[in-house]
Amino acid sequence: MEKKITAGITAIGSYAPEKLLSNFDLEKMMDTNDEWIRSRTGIETRHMAADGEFASTIAIRSVEDLVKRFGKKAIEGVDLVILATSSPDALFPATASLVQSHFDLEAGAFDLLIACPGWIYGLSVAQAYVESGLLKKILVIGTEALTKLMDYSDRNISILFGDGAGAAVVEAVEAGYGFKSFILGSDGNGAKHLGIRAAADQFPDGTPIPDGPFMNGREVFKFAVRIMPNATLDVLKKADMSLDDIDLFVPHQANSRIVTAAADKLGIDHEKMILVVNEYGNTSTASIPLALADAYDAGKVKKGDNLVFVSFGAGLSWAAMVLTWSTD
Ligand code: UT7
Repeated sequence: MEKKITAGITAIGSYAPEKLLSNFDLEKMMDTNDEWIRSRTGIETRHMAADGEFASTIAIRSVEDLVKRFGKKAIEGVDLVILATSSPDALFPATASLVQSHFDLEAGAFDLLIACPGWIYGLSVAQAYVESGLLKKILVIGTEALTKLMDYSDRNISILFGDGAGAAVVEAVEAGYGFKSFILGSDGNGAKHLGIRAAADQFPDGTPIPDGPFMNGREVFKFAVRIMPNATLDVLKKADMSLDDIDLFVPHQANSRIVTAAADKLGIDHEKMILVVNEYGNTSTASIPLALADAYDAGKVKKGDNLVFVSFGAGLSWAAMVLTWSTD
């Protein structure tokens, strides 16, 4: 009988621009204050792309970091680059192509647009390619230069977002390790609650799409607090696991109130939860890989650990994944 391939993550890297945009900086740009932002979101500062830094260059730095940690061999033979982003350099060409050419990879490349859960969606696509035997090694990146798209006269949304990227190599791993289950979700009825307009000026139901970034914070908040625990339970059930099996809970770093509410509803010990939103703000597709790389550096990710990733965002959309870490 043919041996089943199991896919997993064998290398990670991350990068956040050097420049910081603190709550105190925002106080000088709009009618807001540090106390309001910290108490409502847990965010203290965020990294901000400098002139000349974009989703592509930030992604490239995250892959360079991966190579620094795991060696040049880690990206040798990559046959596909999946780049999830909510702030691509251009609608086309794909930002993924810019990363592929920078590293001279003989690989296909495409961008994946499903807002914040994009990196988990990307991992699930990579898993399918690797486990089917169609491809061997896939680079999955989440990268954002969202501060370039924000309107800093609108305090409603611009205070939330920051820039950064995380990258992972997905390939075959030892049996018993790697990806255990995933779930992907979408509810386009919530499209009007969060987004940034491109070519259309209305949704199919006729609802106008405003210019620039738009968000109904309360609606997104309610959705997030409901979907994060539900998606976590669903993905664990699919993996035939329980909450007790989780070693590390890596939620989308949108807002500390949302993340802790989800963890508390599930009864997850805060020690097992990664929370770095104070430093990065919401970095959309980059938020989970950035948090994962920080946890890895802090020695919180060890071979055999069961990790749960869970995310939500515009769409409305969501995704969750269970992974047993396979490297030392
Ligand atoms: O990846 C997903 C991205 N989106 C999210 O995760 C968003 C989820 N939602 C949230 O995190 C919260 O809804 C926010 C943090 C965005 C807002 O918190 P809230 O507790 O829902 O506040 P609110 O929108 O109900 O506004 C409360 C008050 C309002 O004033 P009044 O009407 O009570 O006088 C706002 O005008 O706070 C005011 N306000 C602000 N004040 C200072 C709104 N934004 C700000 C601000 N600074 N930046």
